[in-house]
Amino acid sequence: MSRKNITEDFTILVQNSEKKPFVYLDSASTSQKPKQVIEAEQVWYERFNANIHRGAYDLAEKATNLYEGARGKVMQFINAENPKSIVFTRGTTGGINTVATSWAKHNLGTGDVIVLTEMEHHANIVPWQILAQEKDLQIKFWPITETGELENIDFVDFFQNVKLLCITHVSNVLGTINPLEDIIPKAQEQGVKVLVDSAQSIGHMPVDVQKLRPDFLVFSAHKMLGPTGVGVLYVAPSRFTEMYPAETGGEMIREVTKDKTTYKPMPWLLEAGTMPLAQVFTLGEAVDYLSGIGMKKIQHHDNLLVGYLYDQLSKISEVKIYGPDKDKRSGLVSFTVEDIHPHDLATLLNNYGICIRSGHHCAQPLHDKLNVSATARASVYIYNTREDVDYFIDKLKQIIADWNDLSKEFY
Ligand SMILES: Cc1ncc(COP(=O)(O)O)c(C=O)c1O
Repeated sequence: MSRKNITEDFTILVQNSEKKPFVYLDSASTSQKPKQVIEAEQVWYERFNANIHRGAYDLAEKATNLYEGARGKVMQFINAENPKSIVFTRGTTGGINTVATSWAKHNLGTGDVIVLTEMEHHANIVPWQILAQEKDLQIKFWPITETGELENIDFVDFFQNVKLLCITHVSNVLGTINPLEDIIPKAQEQGVKVLVDSAQSIGHMPVDVQKLRPDFLVFSAHKMLGPTGVGVLYVAPSRFTEMYPAETGGEMIREVTKDKTTYKPMPWLLEAGTMPLAQVFTLGEAVDYLSGIGMKKIQHHDNLLVGYLYDQLSKISEVKIYGPDKDKRSGLVSFTVEDIHPHDLATLLNNYGICIRSGHHCAQPLHDKLNVSATARASVYIYNTREDVDYFIDKLKQIIADWNDLSKEFY
Protein backbone atom coordinates (compact mmCIF):
# COMPACT_ATOMS: atom_id res chain seq x y z
CA MET A 1 0.00 0.00 0.00
CA SER A 2 1.31 3.47 -0.83
CA ARG A 3 1.44 6.14 1.87
CA LYS A 4 -1.45 8.06 0.27
CA ASN A 5 -3.64 4.95 0.36
CA ILE A 6 -2.75 4.33 3.99
CA THR A 7 -3.65 7.86 5.09
CA GLU A 8 -6.97 7.58 3.22
CA ASP A 9 -7.97 4.70 5.50
CA PHE A 10 -7.98 7.09 8.45
CA THR A 11 -11.28 8.93 8.16
CA ILE A 12 -10.53 11.17 11.14
CA LEU A 13 -7.43 12.54 9.37
CA VAL A 14 -9.22 12.98 6.05
CA GLN A 15 -12.31 14.66 7.55
CA ASN A 16 -10.41 17.01 9.85
CA SER A 17 -8.18 18.23 7.04
CA GLU A 18 -11.00 18.95 4.59
CA LYS A 19 -11.40 22.64 5.49
CA LYS A 20 -8.07 23.53 7.15
CA PRO A 21 -4.76 21.81 7.79
CA PHE A 22 -4.80 19.05 10.41
CA VAL A 23 -1.63 17.27 11.46
CA TYR A 24 -1.81 14.57 14.12
CA LEU A 25 1.55 14.15 15.86
CA ASP A 26 0.36 12.44 19.05
CA SER A 27 0.31 8.74 18.17
CA ALA A 28 2.55 7.93 21.16
CA SER A 29 -0.51 8.80 23.28
CA THR A 30 -2.96 6.94 21.11
CA SER A 31 -2.95 6.00 17.44
CA GLN A 32 -5.76 6.78 15.05
CA LYS A 33 -7.78 3.82 13.70
CA PRO A 34 -8.24 2.83 10.07
CA LYS A 35 -11.80 2.30 8.84
CA GLN A 36 -11.21 -1.47 8.60
CA VAL A 37 -10.67 -1.53 12.38
CA ILE A 38 -13.63 0.75 13.12
CA GLU A 39 -15.88 -1.38 10.91
CA ALA A 40 -14.75 -4.58 12.64
CA GLU A 41 -16.17 -3.38 15.96
CA GLN A 42 -19.52 -2.68 14.30
CA VAL A 43 -19.43 -6.06 12.53
CA TRP A 44 -18.98 -7.79 15.87
CA TYR A 45 -22.17 -6.23 17.24
CA GLU A 46 -24.14 -6.69 14.02
CA ARG A 47 -23.16 -10.29 13.32
CA PHE A 48 -21.35 -12.07 16.11
CA ASN A 49 -22.31 -10.64 19.49
CA ALA A 50 -22.87 -13.32 22.12
CA ASN A 51 -21.07 -14.17 25.32
CA ILE A 52 -18.23 -16.62 24.85
CA HIS A 53 -17.29 -20.00 26.34
CA ARG A 54 -20.78 -20.52 27.80
CA GLY A 55 -23.36 -20.91 25.08
CA ALA A 56 -24.66 -24.10 23.54
CA TYR A 57 -26.03 -22.25 20.51
CA ASP A 58 -24.29 -21.53 17.20
CA LEU A 59 -23.84 -17.78 17.68
CA ALA A 60 -22.08 -18.26 21.01
CA GLU A 61 -19.80 -20.86 19.46
CA LYS A 62 -18.99 -18.49 16.59
CA ALA A 63 -18.25 -15.66 19.05
CA THR A 64 -15.99 -17.98 21.07
CA ASN A 65 -14.11 -19.05 17.95
CA LEU A 66 -13.59 -15.44 16.87
CA TYR A 67 -12.37 -14.42 20.33
CA GLU A 68 -9.95 -17.34 20.47
CA GLY A 69 -9.03 -16.61 16.85
CA ALA A 70 -7.91 -13.12 17.88
CA ARG A 71 -5.69 -14.79 20.49
CA GLY A 72 -4.13 -16.82 17.69
CA LYS A 73 -3.56 -13.70 15.60
CA VAL A 74 -1.79 -11.94 18.48
CA MET A 75 0.26 -15.09 19.13
CA GLN A 76 1.51 -15.03 15.53
CA PHE A 77 2.04 -11.28 15.57
CA ILE A 78 4.55 -11.51 18.43
CA ASN A 79 5.76 -14.95 17.36
CA ALA A 80 4.75 -16.66 20.62
CA GLU A 81 4.94 -20.46 20.70
CA ASN A 82 1.71 -21.07 22.54
CA PRO A 83 -1.71 -19.34 22.44
CA LYS A 84 -1.94 -19.94 26.20
CA SER A 85 0.77 -17.28 26.61
CA ILE A 86 -1.61 -14.58 25.36
CA VAL A 87 -3.78 -13.02 28.07
CA PHE A 88 -6.19 -10.24 27.18
CA THR A 89 -6.08 -7.34 29.62
CA ARG A 90 -7.32 -3.76 29.90
CA GLY A 91 -4.09 -2.42 28.38
CA THR A 92 -0.44 -1.96 29.30
CA THR A 93 -1.36 -0.62 32.73
CA GLY A 94 -3.72 -3.55 33.30
CA GLY A 95 -1.04 -6.03 32.17
CA ILE A 96 1.62 -4.67 34.53
CA ASN A 97 -0.82 -4.66 37.44
CA THR A 98 -1.71 -8.27 36.61
CA VAL A 99 1.96 -9.31 36.73
CA ALA A 100 2.26 -7.56 40.10
CA THR A 101 -0.84 -9.25 41.53
CA SER A 102 -0.74 -12.67 39.94
CA TRP A 103 3.01 -13.32 39.80
CA ALA A 104 5.18 -10.93 41.85
CA LYS A 105 2.93 -10.92 44.92
CA HIS A 106 3.22 -14.71 45.15
CA ASN A 107 6.82 -15.21 44.04
CA LEU A 108 8.73 -12.35 45.69
CA GLY A 109 9.42 -11.86 49.39
CA THR A 110 11.14 -9.71 52.02
CA GLY A 111 14.38 -8.13 50.84
CA ASP A 112 13.95 -9.08 47.18
CA VAL A 113 14.89 -6.30 44.79
CA ILE A 114 12.97 -5.06 41.75
CA VAL A 115 14.92 -3.03 39.18
CA LEU A 116 13.14 -0.30 37.24
CA THR A 117 14.86 1.99 34.78
CA GLU A 118 14.86 5.76 35.18
CA MET A 119 12.91 6.07 31.94
CA GLU A 120 9.82 4.10 33.01
CA HIS A 121 6.25 5.32 32.55
CA HIS A 122 4.29 5.65 35.81
CA ALA A 123 2.44 2.46 34.81
CA ASN A 124 5.70 0.60 35.33
CA ILE A 125 6.59 2.35 38.60
CA VAL A 126 3.49 2.79 40.77
CA PRO A 127 2.35 -0.89 40.89
CA TRP A 128 5.87 -1.84 42.04
CA GLN A 129 6.00 0.87 44.71
CA ILE A 130 2.71 -0.38 46.14
CA LEU A 131 3.82 -4.02 46.04
CA ALA A 132 7.17 -3.10 47.59
CA GLN A 133 5.37 -1.55 50.59
CA GLU A 134 3.06 -4.52 50.93
CA LYS A 135 5.76 -7.21 50.63
CA ASP A 136 8.79 -5.39 52.07
CA LEU A 137 10.61 -5.40 48.73
CA GLN A 138 13.25 -2.94 47.57
CA ILE A 139 13.21 -0.91 44.38
CA LYS A 140 16.39 0.08 42.63
CA PHE A 141 16.63 2.33 39.58
CA TRP A 142 18.88 1.63 36.60
CA PRO A 143 20.30 5.10 35.83
CA ILE A 144 20.37 6.72 32.42
CA THR A 145 23.10 8.77 30.76
CA GLU A 146 23.02 12.39 29.60
CA THR A 147 21.94 11.16 26.17
CA GLY A 148 18.97 9.24 27.58
CA GLU A 149 20.38 5.73 27.28
CA LEU A 150 20.77 3.10 29.98
CA GLU A 151 24.12 3.35 31.74
CA ASN A 152 26.56 0.50 31.23
CA ILE A 153 26.43 -1.73 34.28
CA ASP A 154 28.18 -4.79 35.62
CA PHE A 155 25.29 -7.26 35.55
CA VAL A 156 26.72 -9.54 38.27
CA ASP A 157 27.20 -6.64 40.64
CA PHE A 158 24.10 -4.60 39.79
CA PHE A 159 21.66 -7.52 39.85
CA GLN A 160 22.61 -8.92 43.30
CA ASN A 161 19.39 -9.95 45.10
CA VAL A 162 17.37 -8.71 42.14
CA LYS A 163 14.41 -10.94 41.27
CA LEU A 164 12.61 -8.84 38.67
CA LEU A 165 13.62 -6.29 36.03
CA CYS A 166 10.80 -4.09 34.68
CA ILE A 167 11.97 -2.31 31.57
CA THR A 168 10.42 -0.39 28.73
CA HIS A 169 11.31 -1.42 25.18
CA VAL A 170 11.02 2.17 23.94
CA SER A 171 10.88 5.26 26.17
CA ASN A 172 7.70 7.29 25.66
CA VAL A 173 9.69 10.49 26.36
CA LEU A 174 13.20 9.93 25.03
CA GLY A 175 12.31 7.62 22.18
CA THR A 176 15.28 5.46 23.23
CA ILE A 177 15.14 1.87 22.01
CA ASN A 178 16.59 -0.26 24.78
CA PRO A 179 18.83 -3.12 23.53
CA LEU A 180 16.69 -5.90 24.98
CA GLU A 181 18.38 -8.67 22.95
CA ASP A 182 21.49 -7.92 24.99
CA ILE A 183 19.90 -7.03 28.34
CA ILE A 184 17.36 -9.83 28.79
CA PRO A 185 19.75 -12.84 28.58
CA LYS A 186 22.30 -11.09 30.81
CA ALA A 187 19.64 -10.35 33.45
CA GLN A 188 18.18 -13.85 33.23
CA GLU A 189 21.67 -15.32 33.70
CA GLN A 190 21.60 -13.66 37.14
CA GLY A 191 18.29 -15.42 37.94
CA VAL A 192 16.25 -12.28 37.22
CA LYS A 193 12.79 -12.45 35.60
CA VAL A 194 12.11 -9.75 33.03
CA LEU A 195 8.93 -7.79 32.33
CA VAL A 196 8.98 -5.76 29.12
CA ASP A 197 6.71 -2.74 28.61
CA SER A 198 6.15 -2.85 24.87
CA ALA A 199 3.55 -0.03 24.75
CA GLN A 200 5.72 2.17 22.50
CA SER A 201 7.36 -0.57 20.43
CA ILE A 202 4.58 -2.99 19.51
CA GLY A 203 3.08 -0.87 16.72
CA HIS A 204 6.40 0.42 15.39
CA MET A 205 8.74 -2.55 14.93
CA PRO A 206 8.65 -6.33 14.81
CA VAL A 207 8.41 -7.65 18.39
CA ASP A 208 9.43 -11.30 18.54
CA VAL A 209 9.12 -12.97 21.93
CA GLN A 210 11.06 -16.05 20.77
CA LYS A 211 14.00 -13.78 19.99
CA LEU A 212 13.70 -11.55 23.07
CA ARG A 213 12.63 -14.31 25.49
CA PRO A 214 11.06 -12.06 28.14
CA ASP A 215 9.17 -13.63 31.04
CA PHE A 216 6.37 -11.12 30.58
CA LEU A 217 5.60 -8.55 27.90
CA VAL A 218 2.70 -6.11 27.87
CA PHE A 219 1.09 -3.72 25.41
CA SER A 220 -2.10 -1.77 24.61
CA ALA A 221 -4.23 -2.20 21.49
CA HIS A 222 -4.99 1.52 21.19
CA LYS A 223 -1.38 2.43 20.36
CA MET A 224 -1.28 -0.06 17.46
CA LEU A 225 -4.38 1.04 15.51
CA GLY A 226 -6.69 -1.02 17.74
CA PRO A 227 -9.49 -0.06 20.12
CA THR A 228 -9.21 1.32 23.64
CA GLY A 229 -10.06 -0.88 26.62
CA VAL A 230 -8.00 -3.90 25.64
CA GLY A 231 -4.38 -4.99 25.69
CA VAL A 232 -2.19 -8.05 25.94
CA LEU A 233 -0.05 -9.69 28.59
CA TYR A 234 2.35 -12.27 27.20
CA VAL A 235 3.43 -14.85 29.79
CA ALA A 236 6.33 -17.19 28.96
CA PRO A 237 5.26 -20.87 29.28
CA SER A 238 8.02 -21.36 31.88
CA ARG A 239 6.10 -19.00 34.22
CA PHE A 240 2.66 -20.70 33.84
CA THR A 241 2.89 -22.75 37.05
CA GLU A 242 3.83 -19.64 39.04
CA MET A 243 0.71 -17.65 38.07
CA TYR A 244 -2.15 -17.02 40.52
CA PRO A 245 -5.52 -15.41 39.84
CA ALA A 246 -5.51 -11.62 39.63
CA GLU A 247 -9.21 -10.83 39.46
CA THR A 248 -11.59 -13.57 40.55
CA GLY A 249 -15.19 -14.44 39.69
CA GLY A 250 -16.90 -15.99 36.72
CA GLU A 251 -15.14 -17.52 33.69
CA MET A 252 -11.78 -18.13 35.40
CA ILE A 253 -13.07 -21.04 37.47
CA ARG A 254 -13.20 -24.76 36.84
CA GLU A 255 -15.47 -25.59 39.78
CA VAL A 256 -16.94 -23.64 42.68
CA THR A 257 -18.43 -25.23 45.79
CA LYS A 258 -19.53 -23.51 48.99
CA ASP A 259 -16.13 -24.40 50.46
CA LYS A 260 -13.64 -23.86 47.69
CA THR A 261 -12.88 -23.06 44.07
CA THR A 262 -10.62 -24.62 41.48
CA TYR A 263 -9.32 -22.55 38.59
CA LYS A 264 -8.95 -22.82 34.85
CA PRO A 265 -5.40 -23.00 33.48
CA MET A 266 -3.65 -20.16 31.63
CA PRO A 267 -4.66 -17.94 29.95
CA TRP A 268 -8.29 -18.13 31.14
CA LEU A 269 -7.04 -18.09 34.76
CA LEU A 270 -6.32 -14.39 34.21
CA GLU A 271 -9.45 -13.50 32.25
CA ALA A 272 -12.18 -13.19 34.89
CA GLY A 273 -15.71 -12.08 34.01
CA THR A 274 -16.98 -11.01 30.60
CA MET A 275 -14.02 -9.68 28.67
CA PRO A 276 -14.16 -6.78 26.15
CA LEU A 277 -15.24 -9.19 23.41
CA ALA A 278 -15.82 -6.72 20.57
CA GLN A 279 -12.52 -5.02 21.36
CA VAL A 280 -10.54 -8.27 21.37
CA PHE A 281 -12.07 -9.14 17.99
CA THR A 282 -11.22 -5.64 16.74
CA LEU A 283 -7.65 -5.93 18.00
CA GLY A 284 -7.39 -8.98 15.72
CA GLU A 285 -8.36 -6.74 12.79
CA ALA A 286 -5.68 -4.18 13.78
CA VAL A 287 -3.13 -7.00 13.82
CA ASP A 288 -4.26 -8.03 10.32
CA TYR A 289 -3.97 -4.43 9.10
CA LEU A 290 -0.44 -4.00 10.48
CA SER A 291 0.66 -7.42 9.21
CA GLY A 292 -0.82 -6.57 5.81
CA ILE A 293 1.61 -3.66 5.53
CA GLY A 294 4.42 -5.51 7.31
CA MET A 295 6.11 -4.49 10.54
CA LYS A 296 9.54 -4.13 8.91
CA LYS A 297 8.07 -1.68 6.39
CA ILE A 298 6.35 0.25 9.18
CA GLN A 299 9.60 0.37 11.15
CA HIS A 300 11.45 1.67 8.08
CA HIS A 301 8.86 4.40 7.45
CA ASP A 302 8.78 5.48 11.12
CA ASN A 303 12.59 5.55 11.33
CA LEU A 304 12.92 7.70 8.21
CA LEU A 305 10.23 10.08 9.37
CA VAL A 306 11.43 10.42 12.94
CA GLY A 307 14.97 10.97 11.59
CA TYR A 308 13.66 13.76 9.39
CA LEU A 309 11.72 15.28 12.30
CA TYR A 310 14.83 15.07 14.50
CA ASP A 311 17.01 16.74 11.84
CA GLN A 312 14.55 19.57 11.26
CA LEU A 313 14.10 20.23 14.98
CA SER A 314 17.88 20.17 15.52
CA LYS A 315 18.28 23.06 13.08
CA ILE A 316 16.20 25.41 15.26
CA SER A 317 18.58 27.10 17.71
CA GLU A 318 15.88 27.72 20.38
CA VAL A 319 14.98 23.98 20.49
CA LYS A 320 16.49 21.52 22.94
CA ILE A 321 15.94 17.83 22.13
CA TYR A 322 15.92 15.14 24.83
CA GLY A 323 17.17 11.62 24.22
CA PRO A 324 19.60 9.89 21.89
CA ASP A 325 20.56 10.45 18.25
CA LYS A 326 17.98 9.77 15.57
CA ASP A 327 19.30 6.30 14.70
CA LYS A 328 18.81 5.10 18.28
CA ARG A 329 15.21 6.20 18.67
CA SER A 330 11.76 5.18 17.58
CA GLY A 331 8.71 7.20 16.60
CA LEU A 332 8.98 10.36 18.70
CA VAL A 333 10.97 13.42 19.68
CA SER A 334 10.53 15.31 22.97
CA PHE A 335 11.87 18.83 23.15
CA THR A 336 11.62 22.21 24.83
CA VAL A 337 11.76 25.66 23.29
CA GLU A 338 13.63 28.50 24.98
CA ASP A 339 11.25 30.76 26.95
CA ILE A 340 8.03 29.04 25.75
CA HIS A 341 6.36 26.62 28.15
CA PRO A 342 5.47 23.29 26.46
CA HIS A 343 1.76 23.80 27.31
CA ASP A 344 1.79 27.22 25.60
CA LEU A 345 3.55 25.70 22.64
CA ALA A 346 0.97 22.90 22.30
CA THR A 347 -1.85 25.47 22.52
CA LEU A 348 -0.26 27.72 19.90
CA LEU A 349 0.35 24.79 17.55
CA ASN A 350 -3.27 23.77 18.01
CA ASN A 351 -4.25 27.11 16.42
CA TYR A 352 -2.67 25.76 13.23
CA GLY A 353 -4.38 22.36 13.48
CA ILE A 354 -1.29 20.59 14.86
CA CYS A 355 -1.74 18.05 17.67
CA ILE A 356 1.27 17.44 19.90
CA ARG A 357 1.47 16.46 23.57
CA SER A 358 2.94 18.53 26.39
CA GLY A 359 3.56 17.78 30.06
CA HIS A 360 5.42 15.05 31.92
CA HIS A 361 3.95 12.25 29.78
CA CYS A 362 3.40 10.11 32.90
CA ALA A 363 7.16 10.02 33.53
CA GLN A 364 7.81 12.43 36.39
CA PRO A 365 10.94 10.70 37.78
CA LEU A 366 12.45 10.91 34.28
CA HIS A 367 11.59 14.61 34.01
CA ASP A 368 13.16 15.17 37.46
CA LYS A 369 16.31 13.55 36.12
CA LEU A 370 16.18 15.74 32.99
CA ASN A 371 15.71 18.76 35.26
CA VAL A 372 12.55 19.97 33.54
CA SER A 373 8.94 19.83 34.71
CA ALA A 374 7.52 19.36 31.23
CA THR A 375 8.47 18.71 27.61
CA ALA A 376 6.68 18.93 24.28
CA ARG A 377 6.46 15.67 22.31
CA ALA A 378 5.82 15.12 18.61
CA SER A 379 5.26 11.50 17.58
CA VAL A 380 4.73 9.96 14.16
CA TYR A 381 3.10 6.86 12.76
CA ILE A 382 2.26 5.14 9.47
CA TYR A 383 -0.22 7.81 8.34
CA ASN A 384 2.20 10.72 8.80
CA THR A 385 4.23 12.18 5.94
CA ARG A 386 7.22 14.47 5.40
CA GLU A 387 4.71 17.19 4.51
CA ASP A 388 3.23 16.84 8.02
CA VAL A 389 6.68 17.36 9.50
CA ASP A 390 7.40 20.31 7.18
CA TYR A 391 4.12 21.99 8.15
CA PHE A 392 4.81 21.44 11.85
CA ILE A 393 8.36 22.80 11.61
CA ASP A 394 7.20 25.80 9.60
CA LYS A 395 4.55 26.72 12.18
CA LEU A 396 6.91 26.06 15.07
CA LYS A 397 9.43 28.50 13.58
CA GLN A 398 6.67 31.05 13.09
CA ILE A 399 5.52 30.69 16.72
CA ILE A 400 9.09 31.12 17.98
CA ALA A 401 9.60 34.22 15.80
CA ASP A 402 6.28 35.75 16.94
CA TRP A 403 7.11 34.98 20.57
CA ASN A 404 10.55 36.60 20.28
CA ASP A 405 9.02 39.71 18.66
CA LEU A 406 6.44 39.93 21.43
CA SER A 407 9.11 39.63 24.16
CA LYS A 408 11.10 42.48 22.57
CA GLU A 409 8.02 44.70 22.81
CA PHE A 410 7.74 44.02 26.56
CA TYR A 411 11.39 44.39 27.58
C1 LIG B 1 5.84 3.28 27.80
C2 LIG B 1 4.40 3.26 28.25
N1 LIG B 1 4.02 2.40 29.20
C3 LIG B 1 2.76 2.34 29.62
C4 LIG B 1 1.79 3.14 29.10
C5 LIG B 1 0.39 3.03 29.61
O1 LIG B 1 -0.45 2.56 28.59
P1 LIG B 1 -2.03 2.47 28.81
O2 LIG B 1 -2.44 3.84 29.30
O3 LIG B 1 -2.55 2.14 27.48
O4 LIG B 1 -2.26 1.43 29.83
C6 LIG B 1 2.14 4.07 28.13
C7 LIG B 1 1.13 5.00 27.58
O5 LIG B 1 1.43 6.10 27.16
C8 LIG B 1 3.48 4.13 27.67
O6 LIG B 1 3.87 4.99 26.74
